[in-house]
Amino acid sequence: MIILETPRLRLRTFNTDDAAFFMALVNDPAWERFIGKRNLTNLDDSRTAILNGPMAMYARYGFCLYVAELKSDDTAVGICGLIKREQLIDVDLGFAFLERYRGHGYAREAASATTEYAEKTQGLKRIVAITSLDNESSISLLEKVGFKFEKLMSFNAEAPEIIDTKLFSCEFEEGIK
Ligand SMILES: CC(C)(COP(=O)(O)OP(=O)(O)OC[C@H]1O[C@@H](n2cnc3c(N)ncnc32)[C@H](O)[C@@H]1OP(=O)(O)O)[C@@H](O)C(=O)NCCC(=O)NCCS
Repeated sequence: MIILETPRLRLRTFNTDDAAFFMALVNDPAWERFIGKRNLTNLDDSRTAILNGPMAMYARYGFCLYVAELKSDDTAVGICGLIKREQLIDVDLGFAFLERYRGHGYAREAASATTEYAEKTQGLKRIVAITSLDNESSISLLEKVGFKFEKLMSFNAEAPEIIDTKLFSCEFEEGIK
């Protein structure tokens, strides 16, 4: 299902045929460094991760991480969308692009359209985004699409004293944005 279109991209829901793309994305060194190791080493596990991850989230909340594909030739180049996590009160924006599709402004195009979709289509008053402390590409992108740094926090339930995460937010209520 197509959710959003931008000048160069289409954002659509995941399906299990995206297993090879998803496995490539999560095994990218930048994903491992800034998001975490997923240990997805075969297509069956990748299909299960898609079913239990974005597809389950879409069924439960009506939003999830979407596949961003080039309108020109349908190549899947990254993911961008909304996530509801137990650890956060607010819905958060997430994104990741395959290395060869970074530095083209695709992530910014997708993040900007998804932020507008969060307000206009999902009716949210505010969304947040989390990054690791040194994820400069992600921080720069968030600032470009209108997020403001809010606070440092711990995302480690077992070691809450370890500050490992920056929280950004984007408010939609009139007069604040
Ligand atoms: C975070 C991430 C998605 C950012 O991707 P990106 O491609 O660098 O981000 P953008 O879309 O903003 O593109 C940035 C560059 O493209 C350039 N660019 C080239 N063509 C462009 C165009 N047509 N329009 C806009 N920008 C363009 C910009 O100048 C910009 O360079 P700058 O930052 O030096 O100014 C990417 O680094 C990534 O996937 N990282 C791994 C996963 C990750 O960390 N995810 C976030 C977890 S919090």
